[in-house]
Amino acid sequence: MGKRFSIIRTLRDIAFDLSDVPHPDLASMGRELSSVLHGRSAELADTLGPLRERRRGFERWLLAERSRPPVSVLVLAWPPGYATPVHDHGGLWGLEATISGALEVESFDKGETDHSLRSVGRTWLGPGDATWFEATDHLAHRCRNLSRHDTALTLHVYGGDLAQYLAYEQPGPSGHWIARPRQSIIAGRLTA
Ligand SMILES: [Fe+2]
Repeated sequence: MGKRFSIIRTLRDIAFDLSDVPHPDLASMGRELSSVLHGRSAELADTLGPLRERRRGFERWLLAERSRPPVSVLVLAWPPGYATPVHDHGGLWGLEATISGALEVESFDKGETDHSLRSVGRTWLGPGDATWFEATDHLAHRCRNLSRHDTALTLHVYGGDLAQYLAYEQPGPSGHWIARPRQSIIAGRLTA
């Protein structure tokens, strides 16, 4: 277990330690993770840089998972300009932080039915910035890599296995949203 992978272990340990309670303090988790992402950027670039060079499209890499209390930690690779559909997180809490590059996150409030989604704001995440959401069925968001040229990398912590979620589309001009179940695909595991 070389030094090269100690950064992965550090990120995993923070995510595991601070999610070991029924209602994790996500602001604290965001602060701790941001501090590591800012302070150890060279080590991160060394360890995770190859994920930016693969050119295989949008990829999700599993960094760690635990079943009790449930938590999963992932690194996502975002091709230039890539945008997710509007999506929920299966009712899980979640935290997303930028490792390299910059993302736009647009949040939506889900109404009483799946047919009304209201944009409630945008935020922008540069390297080391984090955003998070509590466990709820009422929140969805859409994320976009702001760069036209570079792959972005982000760190994600969820309160469980985000195997299934809903993606939302607006097929016509009526503003009507349609929800479609999606499966999360894992490209591989990053071991500590
Ligand atoms: Fe998301």
